[in-house]
Amino acid sequence: MPEHLDFTEAATLPCAAVTAYSALEGVGPGDTVLVQGSGGVSLFALQLARVAGARVIATTSSEKKAARLRELGASDVVNYRDTPEWGDEVRRLTGGQGADVIVEVGGAGTIAQSIKAAAYRGTISLVGHVTLGGDAEHASLDEVLLALTYNMTSVRAIGGGSRSDLEDMNRVITAHQLHPVIDRVFPFEEALDAASHLRSGAHFGKVVISH
Ligand SMILES: NC(=O)c1ccc[n+]([C@@H]2O[C@H](COP(=O)([O-])OP(=O)(O)OC[C@H]3O[C@@H](n4cnc5c(N)ncnc54)[C@H](OP(=O)(O)O)[C@@H]3O)[C@@H](O)[C@H]2O)c1
Repeated sequence: MPEHLDFTEAATLPCAAVTAYSALEGVGPGDTVLVQGSGGVSLFALQLARVAGARVIATTSSEKKAARLRELGASDVVNYRDTPEWGDEVRRLTGGQGADVIVEVGGAGTIAQSIKAAAYRGTISLVGHVTLGGDAEHASLDEVLLALTYNMTSVRAIGGGSRSDLEDMNRVITAHQLHPVIDRVFPFEEALDAASHLRSGAHFGKVVISH
């Protein structure tokens, strides 16, 4: 683990952080990355994309979280509740170009907007499915496949990362002295409260159970 981190911080790295790192493969200076929401994976993606020299645009559900996303380095934040057609807004913010890489954590309820937000020949890194079982309208497979084809968007499925990805990422984290964003730490006895807190969506970053 990076020496400047404590165990609470380091415990957040092997899943969420290395997933974000894998999702950003190939991102460099001049690229635009879109991250969705302010959960663990998305905040790592924001931090890692910024140190790679990319511009980051974020979506979120509240003004309070938007302010914190800007503090972390997002150049622009779009509220996906106020702006359901946020894909068009991302395209407008990028002068019509769209985002080069999209870290897709929403899944079927967000992918149609992600394709609209994606640059021609851009990449959607398919990470999560937080809209599963929710009330967001889900795109049909026909709609998704047609839109991907017309926009020439690639979909890259992400399943965590390898040990060497984790080691490479830790070198980046050490070089830039990055700290994971920890929302709250719960003692082991309150593990169920930690799960409820995560489910409520009130968190910003990682929720840790200490034991
Ligand atoms: N493939 C893999 O290797 C891998 C690894 C880790 C996690 N995952 C998956 O990736 C997803 C994210 O994980 P996580 O740990 O970052 O979750 P999390 O901490 O629970 O974050 C979820 C966040 O998503 C945002 N959100 C909810 N509905 C949204 C919507 N309609 N549009 C945009 N954002 C929305 C919310 O942010 P706001 O409150 O800011 O709106 C919420 O806080 C989960 O599905 C998880 O299972 C996959």
